[in-house]
Amino acid sequence: MSQKGQIVSGYIAPHPPHLVYGENPPQNIPRSTGGWEVLRWAYDNVREKIKAQKPDVIIVHTPHWMTMVGHHITRVPRLKGLSVDPIFPHLFRYNFDTAIDVDLADAIYDEAIAEGMTAKKMTNPNFRLDYGTIVTSHMLNPDWDIPIISLSANNSPYYFSLNVGIEEMFKLGRATRRAIEKTGRRAVLAASNTLSHYHFDREPDPNLPEDMSKEHVFSHQNYLWDMRVLQLMREGNMDELMKVLPQFIDATSAEVKSGGLFWMLAAMDFPNIPAKVHGYWSVIATGNAVVEWDLTKGANGHQGAYAHA
Ligand SMILES: [Fe+2]
Repeated sequence: MSQKGQIVSGYIAPHPPHLVYGENPPQNIPRSTGGWEVLRWAYDNVREKIKAQKPDVIIVHTPHWMTMVGHHITRVPRLKGLSVDPIFPHLFRYNFDTAIDVDLADAIYDEAIAEGMTAKKMTNPNFRLDYGTIVTSHMLNPDWDIPIISLSANNSPYYFSLNVGIEEMFKLGRATRRAIEKTGRRAVLAASNTLSHYHFDREPDPNLPEDMSKEHVFSHQNYLWDMRVLQLMREGNMDELMKVLPQFIDATSAEVKSGGLFWMLAAMDFPNIPAKVHGYWSVIATGNAVVEWDLTKGANGHQGAYAHA
């Protein structure tokens, strides 16, 4: 029996392809002159920390791998290919190549079934990872030297219902935590989400997408909402955060509606420790923050207090 595993940390790790585009890594074909540095520097800080912590795996929940029946889990030892963003193909055509932690994938599947969920192992060796998984994984660890697991969003984020979906995400979170503990993994979790999600309906200048003189928040109201939610995270006020998230989603169409943040908070047992906001900025007007919960500092969890909310 392996030593009991643990979640080392959890991140809100947003995935606009603009961040990879602005960085110009060798894997991405389009070239830029930079852009969105505040968020990219925030990710730089996180990269250093993840390197130092040496986790066994990074688990990403992505809104852009949508599965209509059940929660799917990548279960192929290695995935490799070209991923093209369907909305921004001029920004993101990325050659990915990553190891998948298949033993942990099996364990998450088993625990999801034990929770009474519908789940499926994704075993297609030619599967093309979505840009949410890739951008988040790249920005957290551009060396790709830590295996990942990608979890699908069992719904379109645009149909997510708080009345139905949220319980499922709590179950998936609990299943993920138990699987990590049983397999002895040291895991980093990533909720691949933007905050406020209203955006420009066309690029200000398609010939220069990284023109930062055109980048700004969508509205003051959305900005205030993002700040309110981030402040609650910084204070470690989990009770109030869980209370306002549904209103936040209604008011700003926040991408957390796709479930990833709820999954991650449940897996971490709703830690009432202050989160660290590494950076916040807009990408085509959406609100994006890189936020860290460091569980190595000791969390006084809520013991599933929201599971029956
Ligand atoms: Fe997205």
